[in-house]
Amino acid sequence: MSRLFEIKNLSVIFDTADGTIRAVNNISLNVNQGECLAIVGESGSGKSQTFLTAMGLLADNGRSSGIINLNGSNLLEMKRKELNKLRGNRIAMIFQDPMTALTPHMKVGEQIREVLVHHQGAGKKDSYKIIKKMFERVNIPEPDKRMQMYPHELSGGLRQRVMIAMALICKPDVIIADEPTTALDVTVQAQIMDLLKEVKTEIGAAIILITHDLGVVAGIADRVAVMYAGSVVESGDVFEIFYNTKHPYTLGLLSCSLSLDKKIDFLEAIKGQPPNPNKLPNGCAFNPRCNKVKAICKEKEPKLKFRQQSHLSACHFEFGVK
Ligand SMILES: Nc1ncnc2c1ncn2[C@@H]1O[C@H](COP(=O)(O)OP(=O)(O)O)[C@@H](O)[C@H]1O
Ligand code: SF4
Ligand SMILES: [Mg+2]
Repeated sequence: MSRLFEIKNLSVIFDTADGTIRAVNNISLNVNQGECLAIVGESGSGKSQTFLTAMGLLADNGRSSGIINLNGSNLLEMKRKELNKLRGNRIAMIFQDPMTALTPHMKVGEQIREVLVHHQGAGKKDSYKIIKKMFERVNIPEPDKRMQMYPHELSGGLRQRVMIAMALICKPDVIIADEPTTALDVTVQAQIMDLLKEVKTEIGAAIILITHDLGVVAGIADRVAVMYAGSVVESGDVFEIFYNTKHPYTLGLLSCSLSLDKKIDFLEAIKGQPPNPNKLPNGCAFNPRCNKVKAICKEKEPKLKFRQQSHLSACHFEFGVK
């Protein structure tokens, strides 16, 4: 049986005046129905570009190679018209800033109605009922009134709920949420994460949650893939990632995560900045920042290897938190 959503050997390259930028380096990931895969890593690690590529939204100076299968069909080989049929319908994306995804001069109800008419051929009366029900589901108060509002008339939290409603409206197979709570204040962040947890169990879609904060994935993710400098450096079951961490970078991310308890007090925060993708260090890309670095790390690139069943790590050594 083929996976619901599967990335195989994906690379994404950008041509710039300063040379070639390798934003994503030969990564493979998959997610099944009803599952939540979290993609975690600092800013610039290639998380967004991986999934923008899947949505056919790569910038003009970008090129990709590899395979991205949705229900067995390769999205990277699809004609624009075929991809448009799937986007918003079978695969939907929620962005950090809903203002970039919503049309400013259109009432939010109308924008969602367009999606319903385009993908499902729904009539005016039916669409209204479906949208009202969805607004109620995502806890938008006074749905009739909100439908008639323009994006700028809504608070950040409500705009994000509108985006989630739009993503859910056609009951897609895959929902990609790219830092969906980063722009919101802490209380609203928690409400939006709770909403995503609820819809995950309700609609049975696969959810891909992209975040720089490993702390937010506990309680929602089934599996986690940690990205650094365009590569997956560790992946596995969420419990394994938290309690049997193998990669020094993931250990560093854990120590940065405020929501974790004192158990990991002994971990050290990661020093320095992620590397410039057009000047990656030799050997292990993490070596200039790694507190466990040895001579071999500066010479040889570690490959992603199985450490335990379904738990992969790309490090020359085997570390563990027990
Ligand atoms: N159009 C572009 N041209 C050149 N480089 C780009 C372009 N878009 C993204 N990048 C680079 O690709 C890398 C990965 O970016 P991104 O996927 O957005 O990171 P993340 O989402 O993990 O923060 C970054 O170094 C970013 O600067
Ligand atoms: S290969 Fe070396 S530098 Fe890279 S994470 Fe492992 S110990 Fe650190
Ligand atoms: Mg991003």
